[in-house]
Amino acid sequence: MKLLIGRSDKDFAEIGAQYIAKFIRGNPQSLLCLAAGDTPLGMYKRLVELQHQGEVDLNSVYYVGLDEWVGIGYETKGSCMQVMMDGFYGPAQIRPENMRVFNGLAENMEEECAQVEQWVADHGGIGMTLLGIGMNGHVGFNEPYTDPQKSIVLHDLDNVTEQVGKKYFDGKSCPTQGVTIGIRLLSGAKQVCLVASGAKKAPILRKSLMEDPTVAVPASLMQLHEQLTVIMDQEAFRAL
Ligand code: F6R
Repeated sequence: MKLLIGRSDKDFAEIGAQYIAKFIRGNPQSLLCLAAGDTPLGMYKRLVELQHQGEVDLNSVYYVGLDEWVGIGYETKGSCMQVMMDGFYGPAQIRPENMRVFNGLAENMEEECAQVEQWVADHGGIGMTLLGIGMNGHVGFNEPYTDPQKSIVLHDLDNVTEQVGKKYFDGKSCPTQGVTIGIRLLSGAKQVCLVASGAKKAPILRKSLMEDPTVAVPASLMQLHEQLTVIMDQEAFRAL
């Protein structure tokens, strides 16, 4: 496990952006699975700047969405799709044919899951995944006690996720189900990067990295990955 610590928000974003850019340069054509949420947004912004500076070609790889709230789509502020379109895919000018994200409004969610799984298989599995950590230790929407053998999972969301999730929806209630790339596909990635910032993430980061891996804390299962990098800021690092 490699730990990288950002000394400021700017440094945290820079470390993450450089990590992703390096992976892309070394693995063109591969498939990236990037988390939405607040934590990585500065990294994505910096990554787009790196593209403008000619340091990386963000269209030389493919993307699969990590997760989505079930029952909402791009039009709803707070959807993972909108967060990623505004924060990354749009500014990076990712070609639509280079990406496949979950449609939270799909009429047949089983079919939607099967298609996303096929997209991952067609691109040789996940090359690199960058994952935020939920306050309950979730990664994507792999909630506590998720089945780690599943490739794609449709989950009822944990109470913690529903409460914390309100921040994306202007304080209003959020959907009660989520669909996500499962632990099986995430663990099969060539490289896994966990990102965490802020003092509020320090206790769950500690559990995820310093206690035995357990399905009760899905992020902790990533300890088992041989190519795990954890990028954190000083506040999140404090409890380690
Ligand atoms: C979002 C996602 C979630 C978040 C996690 C942390 O696509 O997969 O698992 O990464 O809830 O969210 P933030 O970064 O907002 O603290």
